[in-house]
Amino acid sequence: MTESLNGTTPGGRPRIHAHVTGWGRYVPSQVLSNKDLERMVDTNDEWIVSRTGIRERRVAAAHETTASMGAVAGLRAIYAAGIDPDEIDLILLATLTPDYWMPSTAALVKEAIGNTRAAAMDVAAACSGFVYGFATAQAWIEAGLAKHVLVIGSELLTRFLDYTDRSTCILFGDGAGAAVLSASTEPGGALGVELTTEPQGAYMIWLPAGGAKSPPSAETIARGEHYIRMEGKETYRFATKTMATTALESVRKSGLEPQDIALYIPHQANVRIIEAVAKGLGLSMDQIYTNVNRYGNTSAASVPIAMAEAVNEGRIKVGDRITVVAFGAGFTSGAATIEWTADPARGMVADEAVRPEDVHVRLPVDWDSVDPIPPALADLMNRPGSVDVPLDDVVPGEPERASHPVAR
Ligand code: ACO
Repeated sequence: MTESLNGTTPGGRPRIHAHVTGWGRYVPSQVLSNKDLERMVDTNDEWIVSRTGIRERRVAAAHETTASMGAVAGLRAIYAAGIDPDEIDLILLATLTPDYWMPSTAALVKEAIGNTRAAAMDVAAACSGFVYGFATAQAWIEAGLAKHVLVIGSELLTRFLDYTDRSTCILFGDGAGAAVLSASTEPGGALGVELTTEPQGAYMIWLPAGGAKSPPSAETIARGEHYIRMEGKETYRFATKTMATTALESVRKSGLEPQDIALYIPHQANVRIIEAVAKGLGLSMDQIYTNVNRYGNTSAASVPIAMAEAVNEGRIKVGDRITVVAFGAGFTSGAATIEWTADPARGMVADEAVRPEDVHVRLPVDWDSVDPIPPALADLMNRPGSVDVPLDDVVPGEPERASHPVAR
């Protein structure tokens, strides 16, 4: 939308701004530590920490899905925004691990959160998906098409990993994060956005089978083509280059300089990538939020989980400008700069108000689902003394963990 100097559109209507009014996250209670992985593949804690910064990641229990985690995070964001779920006009759910090919996971979330009005669709842009969704929400609001948009990033990656491939299975974890964007004539909120897609990286991170080009069959499964594959070095090179340039472009489009940004929230794939980006932008690490040590790479969920935790930990204040930036399969990349206008205290209240055990995704009728936990993971996690909560535990929630203290 073109803006005139007095903050009105050329037609004389006040310009509409998209403010972040709600944020929330949900992570499963089950922890998979580097020590646990040492019992599955030829790896060790020292290698994983020094190459990636990851110490542990979360694993969804058998009853949890991308939709169920997304619904909890989404409801927390709605609660923080102080609105009713039915006030949401559009639900965008970013994921590369949808519950089903169809319907969209966003449709399942819509029902689970008790919304009857919204349009709902999934966003496929891998780890950049939340930022792509955020930009789409901003555009809908600024165009006057929606008043409140719920953007969710939710991933259940541990069911798509080859637990014999040490170069990928150590990297990823499960979880969900969400934000509500709301229309306002007050300035602030979402500012400049930069999105890119570089298809030369199309086969650098991919999941070969299951789609129309290579439909699922006994043969594709025997070849392990239903698992995520990645060229780590090429991805690393792309990530370090694109995260810095994409973030800078978003800051520049906001009419700001890199030092005007109070906090950068990058996609949490690898702390070495984040350190390289900090160096490229001339920033110190305390200007950058990281929690990759606790969750690993949660793909589209990583930015909204990190944003929600940064607000709840007091790292973001009203009036701060922040930049979220991500990269992922595609290769996609995206950054959004935001002027924060919401009361940070609302996030903590929302975490307590929305209990995972109260949120239900409707199951199909007359359908015998298989056990969704990969056997290698189930074997490890079910060993006595190795886990906090059995993976087939039917009681959802986030109890205090017994054996693995959170490394902050
Ligand atoms: N434990 C121990 N050794 C390992 C492991 C492991 N888990 N994995 C690999 N190695 C070995 C390799 O076999 C290799 O051994 P060799 O020298 O005897 O051949 C050695 O360690 C070095 O391997 P590299 O692949 O060169 O290790 P590198 O330093 O590149 O780190 C890593 C690998 C961590 C994967 C890195 O390349 C990386 O982070 N890449 C980016 C990945 C990423 O961010 N992906 C995000 C995807 S986003 C999305 O959309 C899903």
